[in-house]
Amino acid sequence: MSEKKTYYITTPIYYPSGNLHIGHAYTTVAADTMKRYKKMQGYDAYFLTGTDEHGLKIQKRAEEAGKSPQQFVDEIVAGIKDLWQLLNIDYDDFIRTTEERHQKVAQAIFQKIYDQGDIYKSEYEGWYCTPCETFFTERQVGEEHICPDCGRPVQLAKEESYFFKMSKYADRWLQFIAENPDFIQPETRKNEMVSFVKQGLDDLCVSRTTFSWGIPVPFNQKHVIYVWFDALINYISALGFGTDHDELYQKYWPADLHLMAKDIIRFHAIIWPIMLMAADIPLPKQVMAHGWLLMNDSKMSKSKGNVVDPVILANRYGVDTIRYFLLREMAFGMDANYSEESLVNRMNIDLANDYGNLLSRTTSMMEKFCDGIVGAPGVGTEFDADLIALAKETPVVVASYFDKTDLANGLAAIWKLINKANKYIDNVAPWALNKAGEKEKLQTVLYNLAEVLRLVTIMMSPAMPNTAARVWQQLGVTAEQMGNTWPDLTWGKFPSGITIHRGEALFPRMDWEAIQKEMAAEEKVEEEKPQFEPIGPEITIDDFAKLDLRVADILACERVPKSEKLLKFLLKVGEEERVILSGIAKYYEPEKLVGKKVIIIANLKPRKMMGIESKGMILSASLGDDLELLSVEKMIAGATVG
Ligand code: ME8
Ligand code: MG
Repeated sequence: MSEKKTYYITTPIYYPSGNLHIGHAYTTVAADTMKRYKKMQGYDAYFLTGTDEHGLKIQKRAEEAGKSPQQFVDEIVAGIKDLWQLLNIDYDDFIRTTEERHQKVAQAIFQKIYDQGDIYKSEYEGWYCTPCETFFTERQVGEEHICPDCGRPVQLAKEESYFFKMSKYADRWLQFIAENPDFIQPETRKNEMVSFVKQGLDDLCVSRTTFSWGIPVPFNQKHVIYVWFDALINYISALGFGTDHDELYQKYWPADLHLMAKDIIRFHAIIWPIMLMAADIPLPKQVMAHGWLLMNDSKMSKSKGNVVDPVILANRYGVDTIRYFLLREMAFGMDANYSEESLVNRMNIDLANDYGNLLSRTTSMMEKFCDGIVGAPGVGTEFDADLIALAKETPVVVASYFDKTDLANGLAAIWKLINKANKYIDNVAPWALNKAGEKEKLQTVLYNLAEVLRLVTIMMSPAMPNTAARVWQQLGVTAEQMGNTWPDLTWGKFPSGITIHRGEALFPRMDWEAIQKEMAAEEKVEEEKPQFEPIGPEITIDDFAKLDLRVADILACERVPKSEKLLKFLLKVGEEERVILSGIAKYYEPEKLVGKKVIIIANLKPRKMMGIESKGMILSASLGDDLELLSVEKMIAGATVG
């Protein structure tokens, strides 16, 4: 049996307090790309994501929505799974902290740490930020009592709590970081974490009594486990840690990489390793914080509401375009400003112009000059050596970036080769070779281009998993012929004698001005959608029976002088004639109504308007600015309606 190296990568487990946005999608797409890349490098790769479903915030959201917390999260989690499917996220497991398999492990670890005396009961007083589920010290909230993480007001809270002796482990943690200098990535975050711990660690409050939506403390049911203590454990509960079925744990733990944004690096780089130290479990190999996706220079976040829906973007631009944009735009460890215009630019320049054009120019020349056949390479041109040298070097360079989870620079290196190939076409001028009858050179040049297309397409496939198949189709080859592992990236594997099937542009250019106009038009349609009145409270059949509805003939109709709204109707109801006023002057010409049969409420208490007594009400249907009288065609005036 061959022993493959394993690679275990995780995203944070997200709060299902609302729909996810493209900030969340970034982490998940990045983790997915890493998993696919590692598989290409021959690893047995395992990718975990999931949802973090406990805590006061979720409980409150559920209450607001009039649902039980479980029902509330179930619905949102279903939407999250749909999103990951749409974005082509190939996770191996999706853990939910409300699952029994997780709760048991979380309780067992809490119990173990308690039994050995590292969790103790005391009383907590501090400043609590509900949206962040975090207690802060006086110093952290400052004079204004504002949450240092989200900037919202915090509340003074006091409760009986269990505490985790973090302070006891501070020195061991510092020692560990000194011995494992790459544990926290990037370096700047490591330095922040180290100086935080050097200031001295407080013990951590790890239970709550003021709400119930959480995992009960196993030995004191009044308490639920603090949501972060619960959530972090997902990374091993999902692997069956401590159960009879811990094969996955044995195989994949310790994790190779916990990936997340910088907002939660403290939990992963300090609290989680110390929990593991206390529980005597090996530490993960690396935790890495990427930057934030910003919207107008401020963090895109569910609670701020400045979010962009990945579903809309994926439908508008395609999944691989969104994935490429996110990965390429977020420079390693840095924040990136989001704008749809920059997305469209990336698509037009990198995907349509650079990559798409390389394929379309190459296949069009193959058709024109070589009957659509990729011939065997022979003696080429003076420009070949340079191109081939870069093509041989690029997989090594890309791997060196991808190995560091620096996906943006890895992609940039792939594009360097794409651009080189486009320049190569300009330099070589295959049309001139064709004119000169240089068949062998021409065939070699086109072979080189096909081979570059093979290499770049394979290298980008972890980021853009849908694109390769479309390119292979146009090149007339199968995925098996092209290969899909990193070792397949050796120069010269493109088979000769293949007939291509030139197709449509891979990534059609889109015009940002036109897209904006279309979006504005869509918004207008949205605004013009009818606004229906809500259905009123329930009545009984007896309530309805009180209304005496009748058919009435309009004998005469005229405007009420000095009133803009009112029409005066003379109506025949059975033997009786009566006057009714109705505020519909802006909808009908009075003369045109004469002879119509309408429906009236005949037993409505009469009332006077503009000095005229109105005996009843004429029924009409209305929606927004529209109104239409209810009428019948043949019934005799006085007939009952109901
Ligand atoms: O923090 N830019 O869940 P969460 C980039 N449940 N990434 C962003 C982002 C942005 N604007 N906004 C969110 C939680 N993210 C906890 C995690 S783990 C044991 C528990 C991504 O739903 C990023 O990965 O608030 C960030 O760390 C994560 O979403 C936070 O998601
Ligand atoms: Mg958050």
